[in-house]
Amino acid sequence: MPRKLYIAGNWKMNTSLAEGQALAEGLVRRLGEVDDVDLAVAPPFVYLCAVRQALGNGRIALGAQDMFYEDNGAYTGEVSAPMLKDVGCRFVILGHSERRHVIGETDELINRKALRALADGLEVILCVGELLEQRHAGQTLEVVSRQVSVGLEGIARDEVPRVTIAYEPVWAIGTGVTATPAQAQEVHAMIRGLLAGMFDAGLAETMRIQYGGSVKPGNAAELLGLPDVDGALVGGASLKADDFAAIVEAGRKGS
Ligand code: PGA
Repeated sequence: MPRKLYIAGNWKMNTSLAEGQALAEGLVRRLGEVDDVDLAVAPPFVYLCAVRQALGNGRIALGAQDMFYEDNGAYTGEVSAPMLKDVGCRFVILGHSERRHVIGETDELINRKALRALADGLEVILCVGELLEQRHAGQTLEVVSRQVSVGLEGIARDEVPRVTIAYEPVWAIGTGVTATPAQAQEVHAMIRGLLAGMFDAGLAETMRIQYGGSVKPGNAAELLGLPDVDGALVGGASLKADDFAAIVEAGRKGS
Protein backbone atom coordinates (compact mmCIF):
# COMPACT_ATOMS: atom_id res chain seq x y z
CA MET A 1 0.00 0.00 0.00
CA PRO A 2 1.43 3.40 -0.86
CA ARG A 3 2.16 5.63 2.10
CA LYS A 4 -0.16 8.63 2.46
CA LEU A 5 1.67 11.95 2.24
CA TYR A 6 1.97 13.80 5.53
CA ILE A 7 2.68 17.52 5.39
CA ALA A 8 3.08 19.47 8.63
CA GLY A 9 3.73 23.14 9.30
CA ASN A 10 6.14 24.00 12.09
CA TRP A 11 5.38 27.60 12.96
CA LYS A 12 8.32 27.79 15.40
CA MET A 13 8.32 30.97 17.56
CA ASN A 14 6.27 32.96 15.08
CA THR A 15 2.92 34.72 14.67
CA SER A 16 0.88 36.83 17.04
CA LEU A 17 -2.38 35.43 18.38
CA ALA A 18 -4.36 37.16 15.64
CA GLU A 19 -1.92 36.10 12.94
CA GLY A 20 -2.01 32.49 14.11
CA GLN A 21 -5.80 32.44 14.06
CA ALA A 22 -5.91 34.03 10.62
CA LEU A 23 -3.32 31.57 9.31
CA ALA A 24 -5.31 28.61 10.62
CA GLU A 25 -8.52 29.98 9.09
CA GLY A 26 -6.72 30.50 5.80
CA LEU A 27 -5.53 26.91 5.82
CA VAL A 28 -9.03 25.61 6.50
CA ARG A 29 -10.37 27.68 3.58
CA ARG A 30 -7.73 26.39 1.19
CA LEU A 31 -7.20 22.85 2.42
CA GLY A 32 -10.24 21.98 4.51
CA GLU A 33 -11.50 19.46 1.96
CA VAL A 34 -8.18 17.70 1.26
CA ASP A 35 -8.41 14.08 2.33
CA ASP A 36 -5.68 12.38 0.33
CA VAL A 37 -2.85 14.06 2.29
CA ASP A 38 -2.54 14.16 6.08
CA LEU A 39 -2.13 17.79 7.16
CA ALA A 40 -0.99 19.28 10.45
CA VAL A 41 0.23 22.46 12.09
CA ALA A 42 2.32 23.05 15.19
CA PRO A 43 1.82 26.57 16.56
CA PRO A 44 3.51 27.95 19.68
CA PHE A 45 2.12 26.51 22.94
CA VAL A 46 0.32 29.70 23.94
CA TYR A 47 -1.76 29.73 20.77
CA LEU A 48 -2.76 26.06 20.73
CA CYS A 49 -6.28 26.61 22.09
CA ALA A 50 -7.02 29.48 19.75
CA VAL A 51 -5.66 27.64 16.73
CA ARG A 52 -7.66 24.55 17.73
CA GLN A 53 -10.80 26.68 17.57
CA ALA A 54 -9.83 28.26 14.28
CA LEU A 55 -9.19 24.83 12.75
CA GLY A 56 -12.58 23.54 13.84
CA ASN A 57 -13.14 19.81 13.66
CA GLY A 58 -11.70 19.46 10.21
CA ARG A 59 -8.89 17.44 8.77
CA ILE A 60 -5.93 19.61 9.80
CA ALA A 61 -4.36 18.13 12.91
CA LEU A 62 -2.95 20.19 15.76
CA GLY A 63 0.36 19.50 17.44
CA ALA A 64 3.03 21.05 19.63
CA GLN A 65 6.68 21.79 18.94
CA ASP A 66 8.02 20.11 22.09
CA MET A 67 6.98 18.71 25.48
CA PHE A 68 8.50 17.44 28.73
CA TYR A 69 8.89 13.79 29.72
CA GLU A 70 6.89 13.94 32.94
CA ASP A 71 3.12 14.28 33.12
CA ASN A 72 2.97 16.90 35.89
CA GLY A 73 4.86 18.24 38.88
CA ALA A 74 7.49 20.79 39.82
CA TYR A 75 8.96 21.44 36.36
CA THR A 76 8.70 25.19 35.98
CA GLY A 77 8.15 26.31 32.44
CA GLU A 78 7.50 22.86 31.00
CA VAL A 79 4.41 21.48 29.25
CA SER A 80 3.33 17.83 29.41
CA ALA A 81 1.71 15.35 27.05
CA PRO A 82 -1.59 15.22 28.98
CA MET A 83 -1.76 19.02 28.78
CA LEU A 84 -1.21 18.89 25.04
CA LYS A 85 -3.91 16.26 24.64
CA ASP A 86 -6.21 18.31 26.84
CA VAL A 87 -6.07 21.23 24.40
CA GLY A 88 -6.60 19.08 21.34
CA CYS A 89 -3.11 18.13 20.18
CA ARG A 90 -2.75 14.91 18.27
CA PHE A 91 1.01 14.97 17.89
CA VAL A 92 4.22 16.52 19.13
CA ILE A 93 7.41 17.38 17.27
CA LEU A 94 10.49 16.13 19.16
CA GLY A 95 14.19 16.57 18.59
CA HIS A 96 13.92 19.51 16.22
CA SER A 97 17.36 20.74 15.27
CA GLU A 98 16.78 24.07 16.97
CA ARG A 99 16.08 22.22 20.21
CA ARG A 100 19.14 20.05 19.70
CA HIS A 101 21.53 22.80 18.69
CA VAL A 102 20.19 26.00 20.26
CA ILE A 103 18.72 24.57 23.48
CA GLY A 104 21.13 21.63 23.77
CA GLU A 105 18.82 18.61 23.83
CA THR A 106 20.49 15.21 23.65
CA ASP A 107 19.33 12.01 21.97
CA GLU A 108 18.71 10.51 25.42
CA LEU A 109 16.46 13.40 26.48
CA ILE A 110 14.57 13.25 23.20
CA ASN A 111 14.09 9.50 23.68
CA ARG A 112 12.57 10.04 27.14
CA LYS A 113 10.17 12.54 25.65
CA ALA A 114 9.26 10.22 22.78
CA LEU A 115 8.54 7.29 25.11
CA ARG A 116 6.32 9.47 27.26
CA ALA A 117 4.50 11.06 24.34
CA LEU A 118 3.65 7.65 22.90
CA ALA A 119 2.67 6.21 26.29
CA ASP A 120 0.31 9.15 26.75
CA GLY A 121 -1.31 8.61 23.37
CA LEU A 122 0.29 11.30 21.24
CA GLU A 123 1.79 10.81 17.81
CA VAL A 124 5.44 11.81 17.45
CA ILE A 125 7.36 13.51 14.66
CA LEU A 126 10.99 12.72 15.49
CA CYS A 127 13.38 15.13 13.76
CA VAL A 128 16.88 14.07 12.79
CA GLY A 129 19.57 15.62 10.65
CA GLU A 130 23.26 16.35 10.34
CA LEU A 131 25.19 19.61 10.62
CA LEU A 132 27.05 20.90 7.57
CA GLU A 133 30.43 20.01 9.05
CA GLN A 134 29.21 16.48 9.75
CA ARG A 135 28.10 16.14 6.12
CA HIS A 136 31.45 17.46 4.92
CA ALA A 137 33.21 14.99 7.20
CA GLY A 138 31.24 12.11 5.68
CA GLN A 139 29.37 11.48 8.94
CA THR A 140 25.80 12.03 7.75
CA LEU A 141 24.62 8.44 7.85
CA GLU A 142 26.33 7.77 11.17
CA VAL A 143 24.84 10.87 12.83
CA VAL A 144 21.35 10.26 11.51
CA SER A 145 21.49 6.55 12.42
CA ARG A 146 22.37 7.38 15.99
CA GLN A 147 19.62 9.99 16.26
CA VAL A 148 17.03 7.54 14.94
CA SER A 149 18.16 4.51 16.93
CA VAL A 150 18.63 6.31 20.26
CA GLY A 151 15.56 8.47 19.71
CA LEU A 152 13.37 5.39 19.21
CA GLU A 153 15.05 3.10 21.75
CA GLY A 154 12.56 1.10 23.77
CA ILE A 155 9.58 1.94 21.61
CA ALA A 156 7.13 -0.94 21.32
CA ARG A 157 6.19 -2.30 17.91
CA ASP A 158 2.56 -1.38 18.38
CA GLU A 159 3.58 2.25 18.94
CA VAL A 160 5.56 2.46 15.72
CA PRO A 161 2.53 3.42 13.55
CA ARG A 162 2.29 6.63 15.62
CA VAL A 163 5.87 7.64 14.79
CA THR A 164 6.93 9.76 11.82
CA ILE A 165 10.57 10.59 11.16
CA ALA A 166 11.47 14.01 9.76
CA TYR A 167 14.85 14.14 8.06
CA GLU A 168 15.95 17.75 8.25
CA PRO A 169 19.57 18.45 7.33
CA VAL A 170 20.50 21.30 9.66
CA TRP A 171 22.26 23.20 6.87
CA ALA A 172 19.01 23.28 4.90
CA ILE A 173 16.78 24.65 7.66
CA GLY A 174 15.80 28.27 7.15
CA THR A 175 18.71 28.82 4.79
CA GLY A 176 16.97 28.59 1.43
CA VAL A 177 19.37 25.76 0.54
CA THR A 178 17.57 22.47 0.00
CA ALA A 179 19.04 18.99 -0.10
CA THR A 180 19.24 17.77 -3.68
CA PRO A 181 16.79 15.00 -4.52
CA ALA A 182 19.68 12.53 -4.52
CA GLN A 183 20.87 13.67 -1.09
CA ALA A 184 17.37 13.47 0.38
CA GLN A 185 16.59 10.09 -1.17
CA GLU A 186 19.88 8.60 0.01
CA VAL A 187 19.28 9.50 3.65
CA HIS A 188 15.60 8.61 3.57
CA ALA A 189 16.36 5.17 2.14
CA MET A 190 19.07 4.67 4.77
CA ILE A 191 16.60 5.59 7.53
CA ARG A 192 14.04 3.12 6.16
CA GLY A 193 16.67 0.41 6.11
CA LEU A 194 17.60 1.20 9.68
CA LEU A 195 13.93 1.04 10.73
CA ALA A 196 13.65 -2.33 8.99
CA GLY A 197 16.52 -3.57 11.15
CA MET A 198 15.08 -2.11 14.36
CA PHE A 199 11.54 -3.39 13.76
CA ASP A 200 10.92 -5.31 10.56
CA ALA A 201 10.86 -4.58 6.87
CA GLY A 202 7.08 -4.69 6.62
CA LEU A 203 6.62 -2.17 9.41
CA ALA A 204 9.39 0.05 8.02
CA GLU A 205 7.59 0.12 4.67
CA THR A 206 4.53 1.62 6.34
CA MET A 207 6.42 4.34 8.27
CA ARG A 208 6.41 7.85 6.92
CA ILE A 209 9.62 9.83 6.60
CA GLN A 210 9.17 13.55 5.99
CA TYR A 211 11.79 15.81 4.49
CA GLY A 212 12.33 19.24 6.03
CA GLY A 213 14.63 22.16 5.23
CA SER A 214 13.63 25.06 2.99
CA VAL A 215 10.68 23.24 1.42
CA LYS A 216 8.86 25.74 -0.80
CA PRO A 217 6.16 25.63 -3.47
CA GLY A 218 8.89 25.62 -6.12
CA ASN A 219 10.80 22.55 -4.88
CA ALA A 220 8.02 20.55 -3.20
CA ALA A 221 6.95 18.47 -6.21
CA GLU A 222 10.47 17.19 -6.84
CA LEU A 223 11.14 16.32 -3.20
CA LEU A 224 7.72 14.85 -2.48
CA GLY A 225 7.92 12.72 -5.59
CA LEU A 226 10.97 10.80 -4.32
CA PRO A 227 10.36 7.14 -3.48
CA ASP A 228 11.23 7.36 0.23
CA VAL A 229 10.01 10.91 0.90
CA ASP A 230 6.52 10.64 2.36
CA GLY A 231 5.81 14.22 3.26
CA ALA A 232 7.34 17.42 4.50
CA LEU A 233 7.94 19.34 7.68
CA VAL A 234 7.70 22.94 6.58
CA GLY A 235 8.98 25.91 8.57
CA GLY A 236 9.11 29.32 6.91
CA ALA A 237 6.74 28.49 4.07
CA SER A 238 4.12 27.23 6.51
CA LEU A 239 3.58 30.78 7.77
CA LYS A 240 1.81 31.78 4.57
CA ALA A 241 -1.40 29.92 3.87
CA ASP A 242 -0.94 30.30 0.10
CA ASP A 243 2.57 28.81 0.20
CA PHE A 244 1.60 25.92 2.46
CA ALA A 245 -1.41 25.17 0.25
CA ALA A 246 0.80 25.30 -2.85
CA ILE A 247 3.21 22.78 -1.26
CA VAL A 248 0.29 20.47 -0.52
CA GLU A 249 -1.00 20.80 -4.09
CA ALA A 250 2.49 20.09 -5.47
CA GLY A 251 2.65 16.97 -3.33
CA ARG A 252 -0.75 15.76 -4.50
CA LYS A 253 0.25 16.14 -8.13
CA GLY A 254 3.65 14.58 -7.67
CA SER A 255 2.60 11.52 -5.68
P1 PGA B 1 12.36 25.71 7.05
O1 PGA B 1 12.25 24.92 8.44
O2 PGA B 1 11.27 25.14 6.16
O3 PGA B 1 12.10 27.15 7.40
O4 PGA B 1 13.70 25.47 6.51
C1 PGA B 1 11.96 23.55 8.48
C2 PGA B 1 11.97 23.07 9.91
O5 PGA B 1 12.84 23.50 10.68
O6 PGA B 1 11.12 22.25 10.31
